[in-house]
Amino acid sequence: MSNRENFSSTFGIIAAAAGSAVGLGNIWRFPYVAGENGGGAFLLIYIFIVLILGIPLLISEMMIGRRAQANVIGSFKKLGPKSSIIIGIIGLLAAFIILSFYSTVGGWTIHYIYASISGEVFKLDYQQYFTNFKDKSFLPLLWQVIFLIMTAIIILGGVKKGIENCSKVLMPLLILMLIILMIRAVTLPGSKSGIDFFIKPDFSKVTGKTFLAAMGQAFFSLSIGMGAMLTYGSYIKKDQNLTFIGFSITIADTLIAILAGFVIFPTLFSFNVAPNQGPGLIFVTLPAIFDQMPWGAGFSTLFFILLLIASLTSSISLLEVIVAVLKEELKWSRTLSTIITTILVMCLGVFTTLSWNTFQNLFITTAQGNCMYIFDICDYFSSNILLPLGGFLIMLYVGWYLKKDVFYEELSAGVNNKFTLSLRSMIFFIVKYIAPLVIILVFLNGLGII
Ligand code: TRP
Repeated sequence: MSNRENFSSTFGIIAAAAGSAVGLGNIWRFPYVAGENGGGAFLLIYIFIVLILGIPLLISEMMIGRRAQANVIGSFKKLGPKSSIIIGIIGLLAAFIILSFYSTVGGWTIHYIYASISGEVFKLDYQQYFTNFKDKSFLPLLWQVIFLIMTAIIILGGVKKGIENCSKVLMPLLILMLIILMIRAVTLPGSKSGIDFFIKPDFSKVTGKTFLAAMGQAFFSLSIGMGAMLTYGSYIKKDQNLTFIGFSITIADTLIAILAGFVIFPTLFSFNVAPNQGPGLIFVTLPAIFDQMPWGAGFSTLFFILLLIASLTSSISLLEVIVAVLKEELKWSRTLSTIITTILVMCLGVFTTLSWNTFQNLFITTAQGNCMYIFDICDYFSSNILLPLGGFLIMLYVGWYLKKDVFYEELSAGVNNKFTLSLRSMIFFIVKYIAPLVIILVFLNGLGII
């Protein structure tokens, strides 16, 4: 028997993997990307992509990891062929880049805990407050370091203790909090047009870019395309039903993103804020809604604490991808691997965090005339390019290299109901033919090539 660490129960696995999926991607990124891409139509396309690409890829990744019982490099080394290691390398690169800007936003979250307690966030204009903090101070850097250190400390505790325990308690609390906020948001005066914006699709605004943005968001939110789910899959025992786990995580993740939409958009429209604010969206919207609630400062503090915990259960899955490789391939200790990785991420993180400050002159201008700073470039490049590319290769790998027998075997392990078994052929067909085709089409169309 191997002595790799394992998750102990189905609930523990789902909590950990859903902990990886649910995070800033649902509550911070989903509303801002949906807002920039027209709302309702984006939501529909997003759901379509989650179903057709998300679930099959999530399951494919977990099955590779569980089969190989190894990290994102080791798995492809073990299962072969040699060239497939490139998938692992893309994954490592994506982990570095995502972790660097993820920790920027994780840091903002910590600041908003502090600012809710001190009450300073409610004093000025919310927008002004956020801009002063993000563009004109070096505090974001301090908070980012703290966020990364918290992530590192959990990872030092190892898979079972650290990751599983942390995820179990949080999710129900976060959902409860979002429901309370949603009730407040949809009863604000003028919230109706926000609800309409979010659920009434306006297809006249849909372009190839909408599809690309939806695909990037789906991959980001589900933590797929770079081996996080593969790494977690390697800690799943053979008696677990991967199909069930895959569906559960996807449903939880998507519902939480939609819930966040029902908090943010009604509030935005009620306060006459434009939905295309970019990455600062929730940091200027949420204080507005808390200000309209009894015990607003208390709710605000609690909310940002929960958001911080949700983002930590995600950032640990990014860090774990890299740490597992260093530990198992280079035989470094968990401690050394964690410390070195954290320092490297911090080096890139300085640039993402100070994108609007020290490095405000480093930007590219898009065809629409928007500025993309280092932060935006990292965000766009990793989510819209690296993750779909990784996902594309993983599906080709499973569909055309590992083939049907291996896929069926892994999807039958731990399954004792006919319905789940009957899904195998459909999922495999999607993995082999449909999903790679969809990714190529969205890519070419979104990048303006066709
Ligand atoms: N899915 C997480 C979120 O929504 C972020 C995340 C964790 C992630 N691990 C990942 C994104 C791996 C892409 C790939 O906040």
